[in-house]
Amino acid sequence: MERKWWHDKVAYQIYPKSFLDTNGDGIGDLRGIISKLDYLKSLGIDIIWLSPIYKSPFVDQGYDISDYYAIAEEFGTMEEFDELLAEAKKRDMHIIMDLVINHCSDKHEWFQKALKDPDGEYADYFYFRKGKNGNPPSNYRSYFGGSCWEKVPGTDKYYLHMFAKEQPDLNWECEEMRQELYDMINWWLDKGLSGFRIDAIINIKKNLDFPDFEPDAEDGLAACYKMVESAEGVGELLEELKNNTFKKYDAFTVGEVFNMKPEELPEFIGENGHFSTIFDFCAQCLSDGEHGWYDAPKIDFDKWRKAILGSQLETEKYGFKANIIENHDEPRGASRFLPKHAQNPAGIKMLGTVSVLLRGIPFIYQGQEIGMQNAKWNSIDEYDDISTKDQYKAALAAGLSKEQALAACGRMSRDNARTPMQWDDSANAGFTTGTPWIKVNDNYDKINAKSQVDDPDSIFSCYKKLVQLRKDYPVFVDGKFTLLLEDDDNIFAYSRKNEEKTMIVVCNFFDKEIPMPLAKECEGMEVLISNYKDTSDMSVLRPYEARMYIR
Ligand code: GLC
Ligand code: CA
Repeated sequence: MERKWWHDKVAYQIYPKSFLDTNGDGIGDLRGIISKLDYLKSLGIDIIWLSPIYKSPFVDQGYDISDYYAIAEEFGTMEEFDELLAEAKKRDMHIIMDLVINHCSDKHEWFQKALKDPDGEYADYFYFRKGKNGNPPSNYRSYFGGSCWEKVPGTDKYYLHMFAKEQPDLNWECEEMRQELYDMINWWLDKGLSGFRIDAIINIKKNLDFPDFEPDAEDGLAACYKMVESAEGVGELLEELKNNTFKKYDAFTVGEVFNMKPEELPEFIGENGHFSTIFDFCAQCLSDGEHGWYDAPKIDFDKWRKAILGSQLETEKYGFKANIIENHDEPRGASRFLPKHAQNPAGIKMLGTVSVLLRGIPFIYQGQEIGMQNAKWNSIDEYDDISTKDQYKAALAAGLSKEQALAACGRMSRDNARTPMQWDDSANAGFTTGTPWIKVNDNYDKINAKSQVDDPDSIFSCYKKLVQLRKDYPVFVDGKFTLLLEDDDNIFAYSRKNEEKTMIVVCNFFDKEIPMPLAKECEGMEVLISNYKDTSDMSVLRPYEARMYIR
């Protein structure tokens, strides 16, 4: 495979609203990000992905964009954004932005014009359709609950929204609309962006018949992804998008792709694929509930390990995936993938070791590098997230008690990842001198960046080392992945191997000490990572011990 500039890079996701507030309004801002570039550089980060910072009513935290060419006032100004780009460049770091082009905000000029003239040219930028027998055009449930169709006021038509009703879907069949998006993307790339994370992109291709599906819950609706899965031809749209934009700039693109047809993987990420890479959600999808968060299965260690194995083997045939433990839509990985007994600094380092050394592009989510965990939520009113509120309602409607519904949200809520970054042990974790827009996790006195950056045994230092190893040894970029000890239910072990080097990761997810299972294989190899200070006896693996050997 041709070597690309981003193959050996490590990325970091910033959720700007919760990163660092510098003017005391309780909302993180661009100044905050600029002031922490050295922190990220010291961690070894090459690429920074910013969740949306465009002008937005924030119904879905900026994933509802009302002006693609403007920075949200809450975050700062375009001058500050340009400064951020320049400061990142000085440090040899790349900035990529979130590209939300399946939908926009209902406050966007295009939608406002469409509402004013529902038969005019801008109506064609959206999906305006007549209802059927007094009902919406079809029976889809949006990702955030309720019908996907909302009345266009004063008409007999409805508009389509796969997410909230304030997020109308853009009509990708409309050539003028597509051209406007391409111009906008190129405008940002001309500014010096290195690429984009591309939001919810599989949804852009609709099945234009909008067929009904068998209802799958008491509300009489069917999940809208079923329509997406029945649509053909997303690839043509994605190729056109790429050829008119990213390709001309050698941009790095990472797609958020769920519900792809598995056989399409090479078209998405192969040589000349639609994207540089797509996120690997194989672990996150293990807790997809049949109906929602309230019936989300718990993570089973063996299924988790096998899911990663399957994904690694499939992906290496064609390209690279972007590996994550968590992001702004997911609960914290430390609270999710580790057994209770391993939810401690050593265990969290073990999880980081397993993940960062896999084949792929690591994406570290803000706070992951210091071991941030899910928060404790005492009532539904403490949440901000639109999806959490919907899931709570869905749980109650399915007959769960308030306590049970709250517990389901506590486990799965997106707000677990959106609590403010824990910088130090001062008030509000050093995130703001004002009132934070969402509550701070109570554990910030114990878990914070300040106490970790200079401590060689901290989670932060472990991440720093893992990132550095990827740069020192190309085997982490191109080495073949092999799962070891496949039949051992408590061990996650694998090797990466290229022509020069072999490395072995071995992690004990068990809460008991066991004889070192790969003693023979690791003989004569050098230990480069260990999450225990005392390395005098290597013949055993202690509870949640993680080691990495190299030869
Ligand atoms: C993606 C984003 C999520 C957002 C949704 C709608 O899944 O990651 O945060 O709510 O798209 O834009
Ligand atoms: Ca602020």
